[in-house]
Amino acid sequence: MPKLKNDTFLRALLREPVDYTPVWLMRQAGRYLPEYNQTRARAGDFLSLCKNPDLATEVTLQPLARFPLDAAILFSDILTIPDAMGLGLYFAEGEGPKFERPLREEWEIRALTAPDPVEHLGYVIDAVSQIRRALDNSVPLIGFSGSPFTLACYMIEGQGGTDFATVKKMLYQRPDLLHHILATNARAATDYLNAQIEAGAQAVMIFDTWGGVLSHAAYHEFSLRYMAGIVSNLKREHDGAKVPVILFTKGGGNWLEAMAATGCDALGLDWTVDIGSARTRVGDQVGLQGNLDPAILLSDPDTVRIEVGKVLASYGHGNGHVFNLGHGISQFTPPENAAALAHAVHELSRPYHITG
Ligand code: CP3
Repeated sequence: MPKLKNDTFLRALLREPVDYTPVWLMRQAGRYLPEYNQTRARAGDFLSLCKNPDLATEVTLQPLARFPLDAAILFSDILTIPDAMGLGLYFAEGEGPKFERPLREEWEIRALTAPDPVEHLGYVIDAVSQIRRALDNSVPLIGFSGSPFTLACYMIEGQGGTDFATVKKMLYQRPDLLHHILATNARAATDYLNAQIEAGAQAVMIFDTWGGVLSHAAYHEFSLRYMAGIVSNLKREHDGAKVPVILFTKGGGNWLEAMAATGCDALGLDWTVDIGSARTRVGDQVGLQGNLDPAILLSDPDTVRIEVGKVLASYGHGNGHVFNLGHGISQFTPPENAAALAHAVHELSRPYHITG
């Protein structure tokens, strides 16, 4: 395999020396970019865009053409897995994701099986191969999956934006049923991520957007345990290169030590934690990715630059930091503020990587 021209992102995840702090943005291909909205209109809707590998490749590359980002992320969604399980994913305009057939009855839950990624999610695997070809070894490609618990939240409630009362009721009354869903999701996510790695994903990230709603004990039993199972069953090397694994629990600031102990390579941090304190807590066990408040991108380029400087200063000197937002970029972000962020990270981080 020819070498990557820019492997700064992979090196930082593995806590190897770099010249500057690499940066990418969660949801970097999205509605804040006019060219994304144009391609989405050509596809018809968001899900058709995900299911068309040519157009998914096109939008994956759009933010890289505008900003000096150090990684690309597969354009897709975490809810492709439950869609492939037959739950009928759709996006009602302006309302976020919904399922036609959420899991309600015990027999529906017992009938759930993990989809074969090549057979049922071939459009994602094809997109990974096509994006790798289009990137031509410029920057690494990140693959991803939802966490078993976060997927279960949508599968049980049938939509987001709820307080997850149905999921929590099941967790306390029928933990056996929830464990069955989670075990199936963990198998599905493992197969899915391994297929993405096989097709060319050079790092993978597990998004646990809703783990933070759980109690301390429930987080360990119903979310972290299943993510740890995925981590231990992933292919950690492909084509002679290490494939780093990133775990991200939004609202997971209390549990960083336990997350690091799963054997993952890096943790994603939301904006509620101080990244310097997080670094002290996890030591040299894992790299850290994050954690600028996405709302800062609603301000102006000068403010963005100042706030970027604060995150870099909090992390301090040395290796192991990948700059990112604490959660996905807002659709109301002016693109010039995203540009200011990427440039500021590259410029302001160099002094933190001078050794000797
Ligand atoms: O980061 C990237 O650029 C890669 C693509 C990506 C998307 N979704 C595209 C998307 C990734 C990694 C995701 C992950 C995802 N999807 C998560 C986990 C991360 C997080 O944000 O917490 C979750 C919970 C979902 C489920 C989902 N998909 C929701 C809740 C929504 C609606 C959110 C909104 O902003 O309206 C989506 C839709 C979605 N996924 C969009 C994009 C670009 C916007 C859809 C559109 O174009 O209309």
